[in-house]
Amino acid sequence: MATVTIFDKGSMGEAIGSNFVDAGNEVNFVASSESDKVNSIGEIVVLAVPYPAVEGILATYADELDGKTIIDITNPVNFDSFDDLVVPADSSVAEVIAKK
Ligand SMILES: NC(=O)c1ccc[n+]([C@@H]2O[C@H](COP(=O)([O-])OP(=O)(O)OC[C@H]3O[C@@H](n4cnc5c(N)ncnc54)[C@H](OP(=O)(O)O)[C@@H]3O)[C@@H](O)[C@H]2O)c1
Repeated sequence: MATVTIFDKGSMGEAIGSNFVDAGNEVNFVASSESDKVNSIGEIVVLAVPYPAVEGILATYADELDGKTIIDITNPVNFDSFDDLVVPADSSVAEVIAKK
């Protein structure tokens, strides 16, 4: 059994969370907009927020996320034009997150 923290409880977060629960894991959800920092960050962390919200999560929880397994499901699409990515073409969100 693993402890899993999911940011936030939207459609994808809820669906992924129930799969983790069905598989016998312990899941908690954290709203990235919460002003009070949550202390219980699991061994596995799922980022199920719009990509622009990732920056704030990394800034707030940098220490807690260090060394954890992070599952990023965001689509780094430019939502203004829908024809571009907001990460460099030779990179990925995973790489950007790992660097931070
Ligand atoms: N990899 C895949 O196969 C796949 C498939 C579908 C979606 N996605 C990605 O998964 C992520 C979540 O998608 P979803 O369908 O679960 O979306 P959703 O139902 O709209 O849920 C988004 C969640 O993020 C929270 N949130 C935090 N900061 C936010 C902000 N700045 N703007 C809007 N919402 C914010 C929302 O909280 P509030 O409700 O309080 O606003 C909500 O709980 C997105 O990045 C999407 O592109 C990936």
